[in-house]
Amino acid sequence: MHSDIVEILFTEDEIAAAVREMGARISADYKGKKLLLVAILKGSFVFMADLIRCIEGDVEVDFMAVSSYGAEAKHSGVVRINKDLEGLVENYHVLLVEDILDSGLTLTYLRKYLRSRNPQSLEIATLLLKEGKQEVPVDCKYVGLLCPDAFLVGYGLDYAERYRNLPYVGVLDPKIYV
Ligand code: IMP
Ligand code: MG
Repeated sequence: MHSDIVEILFTEDEIAAAVREMGARISADYKGKKLLLVAILKGSFVFMADLIRCIEGDVEVDFMAVSSYGAEAKHSGVVRINKDLEGLVENYHVLLVEDILDSGLTLTYLRKYLRSRNPQSLEIATLLLKEGKQEVPVDCKYVGLLCPDAFLVGYGLDYAERYRNLPYVGVLDPKIYV
C-alpha cells in the first residue's frame, strides 16, 4: 500500500467485479442500439478502459474534459469545457462515464449540455457515489460502488494529479492536503 493512503476502500478485485456487473447490465440494456460512451477526463479514463472491455456488442467512445469555474473551494455549478465531443451524438444512445459523483454539480451541468445536442437517449454511469453528498439530485442509472465522504484517490482519481496509477481506491491521508 502507498504510504500516503490510510485505508484501501475498494480492492482491485472488488472494483473489477463492480465493473463487470455494470458492463453486463449495459450490454443487456443497449443490445441492438448505437451506444456511445462519453468519458469525463481525466479521472474516468481508467474506469472507461475497463468498462468498455466488459461491454458486449458495438460500442464507440468519445471524451470530454471539464473543469470548475472560479475558486476551487466552492463548486459554482458552472463548468468550463476544456475539450468537447469530437462528433455529433444525434444518432447515438449516450452514456456519460464518470469516476465519482460528489456534489452532482458537474454531471447536472453536463447532462443539460449534452441533452441540447439531442442524443437518442442520455444516461449516466458512475463508478463511485459519495453517499449523502449530492447538493442536487442526479439521476444515475448505473452506480458501481457506494462510498463514504472522504477524499479518495486511485483507479484514475487524483489529488493534485497524483495517485491515478494506484490499482485500488483508497482514502488519502488528510495530512497530505491540509
Ligand atoms: P461534483 O461536481 O462535486 O460531483 O464533482 C465530481 C468531480 O470532482 C469528480 O469527477 C472528480 O473529478 C472530483 N472529485 C470529487 N470527489 C473526489 C474525491 O474524493 N477524489 C478525487 N476527485 C474527486
Ligand atoms: Mg472527474
